[in-house]
Amino acid sequence: MPIKVAVNGYGTIGKRVADAVARQPDLRLVGVSKSRPNYEAEIARSKGYPLFVAGSGTTAAFESAGLNVAGSVSDLVRAADIVIDCAPESVGRENAKLYGSAGVPAVFQGGEKSDVAEVSFSALANFEAARGKKRVRVVSCNTTGLARSVAVLRSGFGVDHWEATLVRRAADPAESERGPINGILPSFKIPSHHGPDVRTIFPDLSITTTALVVPTTLMHVHVNHVRLSKPPASIQAVLERFRATPRFHVFREWEGVDGTPQVMEYARDRATGARADMMENVLWEHGMRLEGPDLYFFQAIHQESIVVPENIDAVRAMLGGRESAAASIEMTDRNLGIPRPGA
Ligand SMILES: NC(=O)c1ccc[n+]([C@@H]2O[C@H](COP(=O)([O-])OP(=O)(O)OC[C@H]3O[C@@H](n4cnc5c(N)ncnc54)[C@H](OP(=O)(O)O)[C@@H]3O)[C@@H](O)[C@H]2O)c1
Repeated sequence: MPIKVAVNGYGTIGKRVADAVARQPDLRLVGVSKSRPNYEAEIARSKGYPLFVAGSGTTAAFESAGLNVAGSVSDLVRAADIVIDCAPESVGRENAKLYGSAGVPAVFQGGEKSDVAEVSFSALANFEAARGKKRVRVVSCNTTGLARSVAVLRSGFGVDHWEATLVRRAADPAESERGPINGILPSFKIPSHHGPDVRTIFPDLSITTTALVVPTTLMHVHVNHVRLSKPPASIQAVLERFRATPRFHVFREWEGVDGTPQVMEYARDRATGARADMMENVLWEHGMRLEGPDLYFFQAIHQESIVVPENIDAVRAMLGGRESAAASIEMTDRNLGIPRPGA
């Protein structure tokens, strides 16, 4: 029997997660929620996703827009074996009370503080830690990007210390009300919250992060400096490790990918899954250097989609059979059209 999954919140993350759930044969999407009728609600209707009313929304508002609703979020939760909460930042914590009283397990997003859940999750790093848990938090886009790379380098070469500067996108493409539209805004909280968030997954990792916001909507870029404890003789070994790991995409110099605009154009041209997204960590082989124990590399993170496969794996870890992390990742990626390593 497929696992019945509710997606509570159908915005930037929720609509992608809903499409991803709908593509997994072992999962069944029982519905999505919105607080107001708009084009996204119309898309949900056109895809045949049952629509439920969230937050302060009313059935009357949807009906006056000609959209049928299947009930309230309480009804949605009751119809599900598990909820993936994709509500706005901090609203998930409020929603947790409803899930708790209904006795339904839930996956939360990185906008919630880590104590909303029993475990913070990133599939490559700690799939087993979510096994059988009732409340799991998929870490944020930036933390997911860092956690994946930490998982690769730690297991391959050991990490003595990690320093990252995060160049953050100002807004998602649809967020026309956000800025800045001109200016570079340093985050004066040093270290930024990302390093401590990575430590919710790797508690003993030595990591310092700083961050700044720039006027772009496409992707984040991380500038990483990692001191390896067992450095390889050449950068080739590092490259091979990344290339052999799912959810990494390494561009070659001749491909002419100068930065995030070409990365997202590549994603649109490739368009193998439900959406033209880039769910992998994006690296450049010519954007990587090894000097003794010191590894330097750039990675780009598509903030709107990187957490999507992680949400699917979290559901399997919590409620699935005994799939291994590798088996779940393979299944998720195949159904989402994320190329396998070496493909
Ligand atoms: N956007 C990113 O780049 C990104 C990346 C990684 C993680 N995250 C995290 O993912 C979570 C969702 O972010 P988002 O960017 O997808 O937000 P979003 O685009 O604002 O979408 C939020 C959705 O939740 C719905 N909603 C409103 N009130 C609700 C309630 N009380 N209960 C349930 N749903 C409600 C909204 O419906 P209406 O539009 O109808 O009001 C909307 O569909 C946050 O924790 C965020 O930090 C975001």
